[in-house]
Amino acid sequence: MSNPDLTSRPQWQALRKHFAEISQHHLRELFAADPTRGERFTVEACGLYLEYSKQRINAETLELLRDLAECTGVAQRIQAMFRGDHINTTENRAVLHIALRAPASEKILLDGRDVVADVHAVLERMAEFCEQVRSGAWLGHSGKHIRNIVSIGIGGSDLGPVMAYEALRHYSRRDMTFRFVSNVDGTDFMEATHDLDAAETLFIICSKTFTTLETLTNAHAARTWLLKTGATEQAIARHFVAVSTNAEEVRKFGIDTAHMFGFWDWVGGRYSMDSAIGLSTMLAIGPDQFRQMLAGFHAMDEHFRTAPAERNLPMLMALLAIWNNNFLDSATVAVLPYEQYLKRFPAYLQQLTMESNGKHVTLDGKPVDYATAPVYWGEPGTNGQHSFFQLIHQGTRIVPCDFIGFGQPLNPLGEQHDLLMANLIAQGEALAFGKTADEVRAEGTDEALVPHRTFEGNRPSNTILAAKLTPHSLGSLVALYEHSVFVQGVIWNIDSFDQWGVELGKQLAQKTVAELCQKTSPDLSHDSSTNALIRRYRRLRDGEPSGAGA
Ligand code: F6P
Repeated sequence: MSNPDLTSRPQWQALRKHFAEISQHHLRELFAADPTRGERFTVEACGLYLEYSKQRINAETLELLRDLAECTGVAQRIQAMFRGDHINTTENRAVLHIALRAPASEKILLDGRDVVADVHAVLERMAEFCEQVRSGAWLGHSGKHIRNIVSIGIGGSDLGPVMAYEALRHYSRRDMTFRFVSNVDGTDFMEATHDLDAAETLFIICSKTFTTLETLTNAHAARTWLLKTGATEQAIARHFVAVSTNAEEVRKFGIDTAHMFGFWDWVGGRYSMDSAIGLSTMLAIGPDQFRQMLAGFHAMDEHFRTAPAERNLPMLMALLAIWNNNFLDSATVAVLPYEQYLKRFPAYLQQLTMESNGKHVTLDGKPVDYATAPVYWGEPGTNGQHSFFQLIHQGTRIVPCDFIGFGQPLNPLGEQHDLLMANLIAQGEALAFGKTADEVRAEGTDEALVPHRTFEGNRPSNTILAAKLTPHSLGSLVALYEHSVFVQGVIWNIDSFDQWGVELGKQLAQKTVAELCQKTSPDLSHDSSTNALIRRYRRLRDGEPSGAGA
């Protein structure tokens, strides 16, 4: 779909004009003008409550944003995604992660084949395998029970599984150990395995392509580690399973494809935690709870597909994100879960949002003249309050925040949950309303300190609340962000489902690794900085004295 002139569309211009007007008004004034604002600017779906009254908007802003969504064809693109059109145009692929969580009764045809049936066939196999491991029927090569699961993958083949494991740890098998290895830095593998008994350890090698350097290197390290304990080649079958779309490479590695769980090219890596890539999640929480997570995803999918724009949670999140990014000029977004179990959620979202929407050209290859994805980052509350919140409150940049919290704690401990949530609520209030110089003076503050103790406020935030962190609510939360990312990408007219930007670094690393391995190489042909770094690294590695020259 061609949409080259986003910024010259009348709808964009109308938003610009509207921004010039509304930016004159502080959130304090917007709240004073409308006492019902805190209840009006909310929406609830699939057990998630979004409160967005602390965004710098009014009803007109929302209308104008919806107009923008309409004229950029968001509704049509949503249908196209659900229909299985090849909306990932640069890779000529359908984008059907929604099929991963569709109930068995649904049919989604792709090139005449019902992909939902395929999904459920894999889910059945996963469930059967997980039951065997969890019940102790699946034994290691020496007859011991499998007690340790080590998932090896990177990017989308790691961040989803590790985030979901941490998020759902409360629901997981506490008598089993789950570890995740992603980095090609040998420390990651060594630390993950140093205290494990190889005879009780199962490796899940997760890689969509099964060609990723880091994952294959770590998988080979795992195989060597197992064999070094005296296990034979035949033992590999009891200790390695693969999750991939590439049966041939899995076979080449030496894993029997009977122990491979498949997925499909229409599942992007960063959209794959609910595919077989989530095998470690299913092993941890069991098939039933995994299905509850899928149901949470599906509930949000259905809401996204059917709810009108003004009540559509992912749509609203996306429109607010566009407003903050393109009109308030905010270059980053802080994601702040007030839930320790969601400690890896910001890292997970970084790939989801930035690998999806960190693009510089439109679908037809023209450079964009507007900002695309902001930088996502964050830490769980309340920890962040004691490190970077200073900048969010009083720095010179506006950092829109997503606060995420739950009504019920998973680990009640005295009044600690109330304390936690009081902090979440107070942060949003402080950011929005701040503290004026007069209020500071009224506290008897020394005049010289008044500017330092003043908070200008007017800093936007969303608050997302749910009753409890469960497999279901986690599924809905992830799907909320997935669809919000999609809508933003449609408005920016970019391909949210490719990732060409990671290729150049990979290619250069291949060339460089060959050069690092040669001890001396007079003909380094990089720029002078890269050449100097290669030479310095070699000397450091080899313990030679430093000095100029090769
Ligand atoms: O390098 C980026 C990337 O391609 C991600 O998009 C992907 O999630 C990750 O690498 C891992 O890829 P694979 O699952 O094929 O090993």
